[in-house]
Amino acid sequence: MIFDSHGRCIRYLRISVTDRCNLRCIYCMSERRICLSDLEHILTYEEIERVVRIATSLEIGFIRLTGGEPLVRREVCSLVKRLSRIPGLTDLSLTTNGTLLEPLASSLQKAGLKRVNISLDTLDEGRFSCLTRGGDLSCVRAGIYAALNAGLEPVKINVVLFADENGEPPENDILGFAEMSRNLPLHVRFIEWMPAFGEYQHNGGDGRDAMKPLSENWAKKVLSRLGKLYPYSGPVSGGPARYFRYAGAAGSIGFIAPLSAPFCGECSRLRLTSTGKLRSCLLHDGEVDLRRPMRNGATDAEIVALFLRAAQQKPASYSPEAASSASMSWIGG
Ligand code: GTP
Ligand code: 5AD
Ligand code: SF4
Repeated sequence: MIFDSHGRCIRYLRISVTDRCNLRCIYCMSERRICLSDLEHILTYEEIERVVRIATSLEIGFIRLTGGEPLVRREVCSLVKRLSRIPGLTDLSLTTNGTLLEPLASSLQKAGLKRVNISLDTLDEGRFSCLTRGGDLSCVRAGIYAALNAGLEPVKINVVLFADENGEPPENDILGFAEMSRNLPLHVRFIEWMPAFGEYQHNGGDGRDAMKPLSENWAKKVLSRLGKLYPYSGPVSGGPARYFRYAGAAGSIGFIAPLSAPFCGECSRLRLTSTGKLRSCLLHDGEVDLRRPMRNGATDAEIVALFLRAAQQKPASYSPEAASSASMSWIGG
């Protein structure tokens, strides 16, 4: 078991398997050519498996695969299969944009994936196409149903809260997602957008300049039109969401509010980038390289020491002065 220097136990490792993505969400990636890592710097499946074996030996049993978009990486099912056999694994999950999920959901489940979180910010086809710069909403819908049918459970939907170009708050979307959580076993999480983060600090002129953050409280007001939300212990989770549900609902509503309800005090996460850097915080650039040592023959004990070093670097809380300059697609959300 490892603890950071503020007494928090590390239990959760988020692993970005690629920095590539098949979408270009306006708040995540620049429209212009984005900087991608050389393929030889991306960890191989053997290397990822080794890192996970070492992590589970330290009782870091919650493993989440992220990206970029993890499903664009070739044969991702074979990675899931390798990881799912590792002793000490408590949970194996994946965060995806859902566009490539329909044909893969069943194979992922058979390979040992337990559950998926699907990013979907709107239920309106036109708005979806704008936000993702050309994505097709029907593919994500098909992916959601495929995940439910495949028994990947629970299925969570991530909705980032913001008003776009025309300044209209997306009330219809909020209500549409709320209905989904009533009718289907879906756990919809509204996420406060973190504006001062990543590539967009450096890319003035992109669509996100026109975006306006919306708070958890704003969303709650809109949601209250459909009825009372009752606190709920929530589905399987290792993350920061707090859950509620409508009476009789099949699913639930969660909130992840890094700005209005910060959760750094309970943070149990480390992150591994696709190029093998251990990061101690989403919003902090300190990192410990695992790739070079692994490729230079480091022993497991030496890699354990690097995990401890990363945990020691974990800041007590997010500070705007130390804001990350890396993009969400590279760190993996
Ligand atoms: P589970 O609860 O295990 O299902 O995972 P999760 O909700 O942490 O995973 P997911 O990949 O779906 O993350 C949802 C969003 O939560 C991320 O995109 C971030 O916006 C936010 N988030 C997750 N972890 C952190 C964190 O450590 N710090 C901050 N500020 N935001 C985080
Ligand atoms: N603030 C909050 N969430 C974000 N995501 C990407 N960028 C941001 C941001 N700046 C979300 C995506 C996805 C998850 C991996 O990260 O929408 O749900
Ligand atoms: Fe959108 Fe996620 Fe791809 Fe970024 S990594 S462009 S948030 S789908």
